Amino acid sequence: MIRHIIAAIATLLALWAVVFMMELDRKAERFKQIEEIIEKSKEVPIPNVSEPVVKQQQESEAEKRKEEEDEVAKKLKALKERAGSAMAFKVSPLYKQKCSSCHGVNGEGAVGPRLIGKSEDYIYEALASFKSGSRKNYVMYGLLSKMSDDDLKALSTEIGTFKEKLDAANR
Ligand code: HEC
Repeated sequence: MIRHIIAAIATLLALWAVVFMMELDRKAERFKQIEEIIEKSKEVPIPNVSEPVVKQQQESEAEKRKEEEDEVAKKLKALKERAGSAMAFKVSPLYKQKCSSCHGVNGEGAVGPRLIGKSEDYIYEALASFKSGSRKNYVMYGLLSKMSDDDLKALSTEIGTFKEKLDAANR
């Protein structure tokens, strides 16, 4: 009886072994197939094809980046020009420092009245009378009392040319 049982177990083991071996074989077969696929894929000259493609991509990306940078540079320049166009023409440092805050960068007027278009003589008359106190304005008096007559003349002459300069800038 025991022998029968042992024989049965042995048969089962043998059967299991056969199934196991078959399973191993199938796995090995699959590995072989995979290996073959890998091997075959190596034969395809992927690098030769993909290298130029990658290079092209990199080049076009670099070009794109450069274009974007150019765009930014252009916009900055345009912005600067627009910001700069608030100042249509250059003024002396003296005018810029002492007068532009109230009369505008080009004498167009702000807190203080518009100066552009007024004659040199008129400006000088006004400045001199502010300074002497015959024309009363506390702000202008305070400012001009520390300035020399030469400064007043120079400023008058300069402001007298503002209109001409603006016209030239807009031409
Ligand atoms: C803090 C502001 C301020 C500053 C800075 C200033 N001004 Fe004036 N300016 C005025 C005001 C306000 C008036 C108007 C005064 C009035 O008419 O009584 C005026 C008037 C004048 C006038 C007379 C204009 C007219 O139509 O009669 C002249 C010219 C003038 N300023 C030139 C200058 C010059 C040149 C400078 C620089 C040295 C200067 N101002 C700086 C505020 C200023």
